[in-house]
Amino acid sequence: MASALTDKLIILDTTLRDGEQAPGIALSPDDKVAIAHQLARLQVDVIEAGFAASSPGDHEAVSRIANEVKGPVIASLARTHPDDIDAAADAVKGAARQRIHVFISTSQIHREQMLRMSEEDVLKAITESVTRAKRYCDDVEFSPQDATRTHPDFVVESCRRAVAAGATTINIPDTVGYAVPSDFVALMERVYSDVRGGNNDVVVSTHCHNDLGLAVANSLSAIHAGARQIEGAINGLGERAGNTSTEEIIMAVKTREDYFGVKIGADTTQLFETSRLVAQLTGYPIQYNKAIVGRNAFAHESGIHQHGVLRDRETYEIMDPASIGHASAIVLGKHSGRAAFADALANMDIALEDDDFKAAFDRFKELADRKGEISEEGVRAIVSEKTSVAPDTVELVGIHFSGGTQEVPLATVSVRRNGDTIEVNSEGDGMVNAAFGALRDVFEIEAILLDYRVSPLTSGADALAEVNVIIQVASETYSGRGVSTDVVEGSARAFTAALNKAAFEAAAIGRQEGSD
Ligand code: KIV
Ligand code: ZN
Repeated sequence: MASALTDKLIILDTTLRDGEQAPGIALSPDDKVAIAHQLARLQVDVIEAGFAASSPGDHEAVSRIANEVKGPVIASLARTHPDDIDAAADAVKGAARQRIHVFISTSQIHREQMLRMSEEDVLKAITESVTRAKRYCDDVEFSPQDATRTHPDFVVESCRRAVAAGATTINIPDTVGYAVPSDFVALMERVYSDVRGGNNDVVVSTHCHNDLGLAVANSLSAIHAGARQIEGAINGLGERAGNTSTEEIIMAVKTREDYFGVKIGADTTQLFETSRLVAQLTGYPIQYNKAIVGRNAFAHESGIHQHGVLRDRETYEIMDPASIGHASAIVLGKHSGRAAFADALANMDIALEDDDFKAAFDRFKELADRKGEISEEGVRAIVSEKTSVAPDTVELVGIHFSGGTQEVPLATVSVRRNGDTIEVNSEGDGMVNAAFGALRDVFEIEAILLDYRVSPLTSGADALAEVNVIIQVASETYSGRGVSTDVVEGSARAFTAALNKAAFEAAAIGRQEGSD
């Protein structure tokens, strides 16, 4: 299956759907919209914005992205159930270009253990659901889930049914990351010849998971078998070991255009920023040696390498760091004013509304006074804290402790709410724990701490620390971030941010119930 040099490779990014399914990730609709805008700046072709039927929050996020984010096709996932298709159609209807992505499991183990459906039942569901989706929009994608553990004859039969009912993209998922490149190529060639054939209206696609660390290799191998769409997630996020990493696909195809022979539409200079934003909002750190976006991806340690790179970058670099937006070294200090801060944000392609700008600038000044210099990473972290303060939001004003290492620590937290400043005390088995206890009392919310992570943003004793927390309130999870030179204060800020989200949602539900 030789590839034509003029062919375009479609990039479908599923960070907001499959990526968000990674354990412990809890993005708010605001976070999802922010990531979707960044994916649009990256110019991916399709954003899979969520799974509208899975929760009201997901429906809201998909719908807001469909209405607000311009450029890419906006897709929602749906099972073959009529209600799922209707929810997906409703959520994407605001987009200029919309897609419904229908899936059903086809492997024997999934059919028998999960669906309790025969092959005939599955084929009938495919025909009915794709036909229903087609009534809402022209662009319908179909995926036979667990395709790589399904008999190839049944993969082909399922996909043929989907095409007959109007599907325009046939996506082959390696749901459990079981494939290796050679057998995946054989399956993709079969799908290409027996399902697509000469039908130029049908695009063949891949969606590979990384359980054996082969997701990117499998996806790329499918290009020569005729695949013209690859699905991935930023930083390789996703179920279990994750998905194909979008940034690795984009840079592999771009760097080895000579080999793959397909074109890609993405603006690669947005990759670094996209990766950072996703890491910050999800709280999933990027491993130092991660290809393309890891902090060591362009670092040269050995003298021989450094010498080579100083002479000619290409001695040891196959990609220009600037081509993925990795180049800038912005440092601001306590004397930097509004203009310098605004300029730094513009250089980082960050646009803030007036109130958010003011809140971020005030916080920057506060931290710069304590720390002296704030690096680009620090500025990004400040901006990614929830900046604008809604009237009913609790704002952390200060935090004090008494008690030494031999005594039980007592935290006094002072917060501002609706213009009033109040102080609350709480003991705990450590300073962070005491601060969290006081904040629980302020909000009067029973929050369970599910995840707590501190990452240094810069080195040295006065380093800025970024703290990410995930809390559970009733059955919902909320994430929060805080940045400070002090780990306890950063932790309290992160916990406050997460509790504010929980309180906001509880108030919204209360308002809705009141109006019903
Ligand atoms: O991994 C998978 O099979 C999926 C499908 C829903 C496409 O994510
Ligand atoms: Zn998946």
